[in-house]
Amino acid sequence: MDKLLIEGGAPLRGEIAISGAKNAALPILCAALLSSEPLSLSNLPQLNDISTMLRLIGQMGVSIARDGDGVTLDAAQLSNPLAPYEMVKTMRASILVLGPLVARHGEARVSLPGGCAIGARPVDQHIKGLAAMGAEIHVEHGYIHAKAKRLKGARICTDMVTVTGTENLMLAACLAEGETIIENAAREPEVVDLANCLSAMGARISGAGSDTVRIEGVESLSGAAYRIMPDRIETGTYLCAAAATGGEVRLTRTQAGSLDAIIDKLLEAGCDIQGESGAISLKAPPRLKSVSLRTAPYPAFPTDMQAQFMAINAIADGVATIRETIFENRFMHAVELMRLGADIQIDGSNATVRGVAQLEGAHVMATDLRASASLVIAGLAAQGETLVHRIYHLDRGYERIEEKLSALGARVRRVN
Ligand code: UD1
Repeated sequence: MDKLLIEGGAPLRGEIAISGAKNAALPILCAALLSSEPLSLSNLPQLNDISTMLRLIGQMGVSIARDGDGVTLDAAQLSNPLAPYEMVKTMRASILVLGPLVARHGEARVSLPGGCAIGARPVDQHIKGLAAMGAEIHVEHGYIHAKAKRLKGARICTDMVTVTGTENLMLAACLAEGETIIENAAREPEVVDLANCLSAMGARISGAGSDTVRIEGVESLSGAAYRIMPDRIETGTYLCAAAATGGEVRLTRTQAGSLDAIIDKLLEAGCDIQGESGAISLKAPPRLKSVSLRTAPYPAFPTDMQAQFMAINAIADGVATIRETIFENRFMHAVELMRLGADIQIDGSNATVRGVAQLEGAHVMATDLRASASLVIAGLAAQGETLVHRIYHLDRGYERIEEKLSALGARVRRVN
């Protein structure tokens, strides 16, 4: 298994380009299932989760032509509407095929994802929404089996804000008969990116980015060409890495617009940040100040940046409290950060982080995608060598991470 060897202490300096957003690309790849005409996408990140999704829709009969960071998907022939357990267990976002398959193919069999490292993560809202649209749904032998001749528009109010839940229902509603209204919808920029792609395919969607999304179903969708938005979590992660190492970086091919909550916290920590059109620059202060935060659905502070800010707080001046409200078990990086010398106390969904003057390199274990990113940030800031085990988690969500960090002057190496 690959590991990442980090010789800490080098401030990150220079410029790198940000990749396309994983969490926008995954639902957008599923949008291809809705049309018999080709969908051409650009700015597709090269990540394991993207390869998994391509394999999944490929085995359903979608033809896939990749060209650099672009891909053309042709779902003229859909033959096998099945998402098997082996794939869904490696990537929960596989559930995103459910809505489009029922809407276009009339049937889907998708494995229940089950729990994962950061929490139980049920998909009851996806099922409830499709049932409200008239799908006949049975859950048997660990699989969701959904059928519908044609889905019917419905008013759906989700019990909690769910990102992929909102996306799955939006995808399904595009081909339903009549109007669907999704209330309590997720407002994440990735939901808006999906809506923009679907609109380019001829869908009639309004309100994406607000908590009420309206979709007037159409008979069929056409092909389109669409560019995937930049990854705001990758952007935030490199900003944190630069902040933690006392560096100065410029990140290009990204947008400051969707990063307000993250930028606010970095400013509060004492960083100097400049946003330009298509780029963000950060200059770190000599010592960061602690910043307390609470995760919540967009536009509040994202749970996907909580671990990276715990790494920053571990070496900041002061005491920070971090409250995680989205996932019930998302502090596993804390004990690993403590192996590097961090002073962290966990009490349920609250963490208290007392900043220390210096972290020291050690062996640490990555447990999930964003936890891995926090260990890399801490390792870059620590004195001496850090070896991050199980970096396959990182490869799910960070494109060429060691190459990008090296380009910024970090001393990192992938070892086997
Ligand atoms: C998405 C993101 C993930 C991010 C998360 C929260 C993708 C591919 N992944 O995950 O990176 O951390 O949003 O911003 O976009 N819930 C239920 N029932 C449901 C659906 C969700 O109880 O049917 C709960 C979840 O367990 C969780 C909360 O709702 O506690 C929010 O989850 P959700 O927004 O659905 O997360 P994902 O879409 O899986």
